[in-house]
Amino acid sequence: MRTKILAAALLLSMVGFSSAHAAGEHIEYPDVKWSFEGPFGTFDRAALQRGFQVYKQVCSACHGMKKVHYRNLSALGYNEDEIKTIAAEYQITDGPNDEGDMFDRPGRPSDRFKSPYPNDNAGKFANNGALPPDLSLMIKARKDGADYVHALLTGYETPPEGEELLNGQHWNKYFAGHKIAMAAPLADGAVSYEDGTEGTVEQYALDVTHFLAWAAEPEMEKRKQTGIKVILFLVVFAGLMYAVKRKIWSKVH
Ligand code: HEC
Repeated sequence: MRTKILAAALLLSMVGFSSAHAAGEHIEYPDVKWSFEGPFGTFDRAALQRGFQVYKQVCSACHGMKKVHYRNLSALGYNEDEIKTIAAEYQITDGPNDEGDMFDRPGRPSDRFKSPYPNDNAGKFANNGALPPDLSLMIKARKDGADYVHALLTGYETPPEGEELLNGQHWNKYFAGHKIAMAAPLADGAVSYEDGTEGTVEQYALDVTHFLAWAAEPEMEKRKQTGIKVILFLVVFAGLMYAVKRKIWSKVH
């Protein structure tokens, strides 16, 4: 009996140790003041459009966003014709046709964002064995997702002395373990914005993260508005109930 308890205690202490160890060093990210934070937070349409441009011109070469349909881009302020044009820039595999063959056709607003690779193995093969993850829900999948992704995109450095990088590895001060299979995707001037916003790595990182935050929770603004309405209703309702209570009890002394 006693040995059992001892063994259990030992196991528990080992679990505690390994998880603390696995957590490794604590990495802090710069705390960005996002317009979509807080109970009244909203997305910035101009930032969303710029972020979509960065995703389209840079990230979509390696990362899919399977949960987003072209028609969802109306939330960024694009009209129907603009969305049709954007979707039609892609060749989507459809089918089978009457003869049983798959065929390519221009994209439609109802299509999902086209993935860069036909399957995961092709994605791994093109990236030294590391699969670029789908970005649809990335902001939700990581703790402090928006701050993390912004930090990651701006966190590339030459490795400190004594650290060896294998072929295809890059040093990022914000990535857990620091050795990441994604090369720094952004460079100053790589994307030219039409609205005159400066094309810097920092700006691209802010904008594309804004876009990814929207993609991960497109209903965020509606959710917050509903929350505020519910609270307003409850405040008014509580006031009303208090008045009724006073009225009913006013004759009791
Ligand atoms: C040349 C291909 C390539 C491009 C372009 C690229 N990535 Fe990646 N990305 C990768 C690969 C490969 C990984 C997997 C890295 C790993 O697990 O070591 C990755 C991983 C990530 C991750 C996950 C990191 C984590 O915590 O696991 C995020 C977020 C990300 N990329 C965002 C972006 C964004 C945003 C862009 C556009 C600005 C972009 N990537 C452009 C190849 C790419």
